[in-house]
Amino acid sequence: MSSTLTRLPEWRALVEHRRGTVFDLRELFASDANRFARYSIAHGELLLDYSKHYLTDETVRLLVALADARCMRDWIRRLMSGERINTTENRPVLHTALRANAPVMLDGHDVTQDVAQVRAQMRRFSEALRSGAVKGATGRPISDVVNIGIGGSDLGPALAVEALAPYAAGQPRVHFMSNIDGAHVQAVLANLDPHATLAIIASKTFTTQETLTNANSVRAWLAKAVGPRTGEHFAAVTANSQAAQAFGVGKERIFEFWDWVGGRYSLWSAVGLPIAIAVGMDEYESMCDGARGMDEHFESAPLAHNLPVLMALLGVWYGDFHGTATHAVLPYDMRLKRLPDYLQQLEMESNGKRVTRDGEIVDYSTCPVVWGAPGTNGQHAFFQMLHQGTQLVPADFIACCKPHHHLPEHHSILLANCYAQTEALMRGKTADEARVELQAQGLSSEELERLLPHKVFPGNRPTSTLLLDALTPHALGALIALYEHKVFAQSVIWGVNAFDQWGVELGKRLADRILPELAQDTRVTTHDSSTNGLINYTKSKW
Ligand code: F6P
Repeated sequence: MSSTLTRLPEWRALVEHRRGTVFDLRELFASDANRFARYSIAHGELLLDYSKHYLTDETVRLLVALADARCMRDWIRRLMSGERINTTENRPVLHTALRANAPVMLDGHDVTQDVAQVRAQMRRFSEALRSGAVKGATGRPISDVVNIGIGGSDLGPALAVEALAPYAAGQPRVHFMSNIDGAHVQAVLANLDPHATLAIIASKTFTTQETLTNANSVRAWLAKAVGPRTGEHFAAVTANSQAAQAFGVGKERIFEFWDWVGGRYSLWSAVGLPIAIAVGMDEYESMCDGARGMDEHFESAPLAHNLPVLMALLGVWYGDFHGTATHAVLPYDMRLKRLPDYLQQLEMESNGKRVTRDGEIVDYSTCPVVWGAPGTNGQHAFFQMLHQGTQLVPADFIACCKPHHHLPEHHSILLANCYAQTEALMRGKTADEARVELQAQGLSSEELERLLPHKVFPGNRPTSTLLLDALTPHALGALIALYEHKVFAQSVIWGVNAFDQWGVELGKRLADRILPELAQDTRVTTHDSSTNGLINYTKSKW
């Protein structure tokens, strides 16, 4: 039996539309000189060009009808008004309240007042650190801050600190330690002076194995240099203040956030502290303002002109009606090189679900594999497959009109490549065009025919291009919020809960079981033969 979603007439209409329409991008551009104007939207310092997609006005109409049938508007209202839409954890989802400029009521209490208090605490602490006023136990000013966290407690701040490096004062330097791999711990600490280092333990739960193990190792490293007063070298960002205090972090250095902030949506909470330390609180708040502008757009723009909704619908259109399995994110900006990592968690942890909110097993595709790397590097690695491989891979190209550096020639080359790639993916090269080129090279007809199939590009490969005026804190905030809302809008179409992540639990539990087995002398026999074999083989090498 088919699911509630695929039984909808709006879904069936899209199936028919897909079946009955040939989407030939070259042809669509040839027949409409205004296609870019028709299918691009400028909002603030962002421009979305979605003209290089398999769509006509009818496609947009049908996709928007699907969004309406899934009550998109109402879901946006439910999200922003603090309804308990994370039903498996019985929590509201209020990351938008973290950047709101009007009261947001939760159980009769305006949560923006709590947010303002923590913001003030972040401002005081980040300014004190930046001015050199915060000293370690032995009296040295703090020159380096290490954020110890993983997943949502790492990826967002790490992305933003890297993206906004031109805004950083340089002091203190901010580093990120996430992996339980001791090599990561050693690499981060290698060039740091414990007397002048402060660690922020960022963990919503304060129970995450990687983060707490790393924090303990950092504490031992600090203790060797500064003795027992290691507490003066720590701060914590958490929803579990008691556990942070038990670790030894002073109350005044604990920055709270709340269970209504999902980990992967938390960089707008005190999890953003490393950003404020790196670029200053004013720039951090400018980032939040950029995100709020996108919230307002998401809430108010008609669905057919609503950037996050359109991006969401395009993803559904390809994944569910054209069978694509992956989605590439290709920033043509080295400072956004961590964006694909960040979006992997945002998209795949949110919408990588196989049952609906009501527990129904879906009979359609939900979240694709999200992957990517910065251009132009990717062009010299995997773009071959994008152009001539057998899979259709929709892609987001992201670039900034103005750079922050003073090498204009580099920027022109970068952008020329970005635009050339989307053009090449769209147009391709026909056999006739390839033949003319080969003939011009004076090849024998035999050699020409031999090479011809290799020189043809099928084209018709869809892409979006997102242009930022410049990579400012404000624009970055808008960009991140755009993707957050895209993910939510897709969850509405697919009917899944975007805010839980039960799929990460099983592996954690099994690791807890294997850890003591790695220490025991006897051979392990409690698992399947592969897992037993791997554990026992490893121990034979220790
Ligand atoms: O294991 C997944 C996860 O729970 C993510 O959702 C979260 O961002 C990450 O771990 C870190 O969690 P915490 O901030 O509680 O340490």
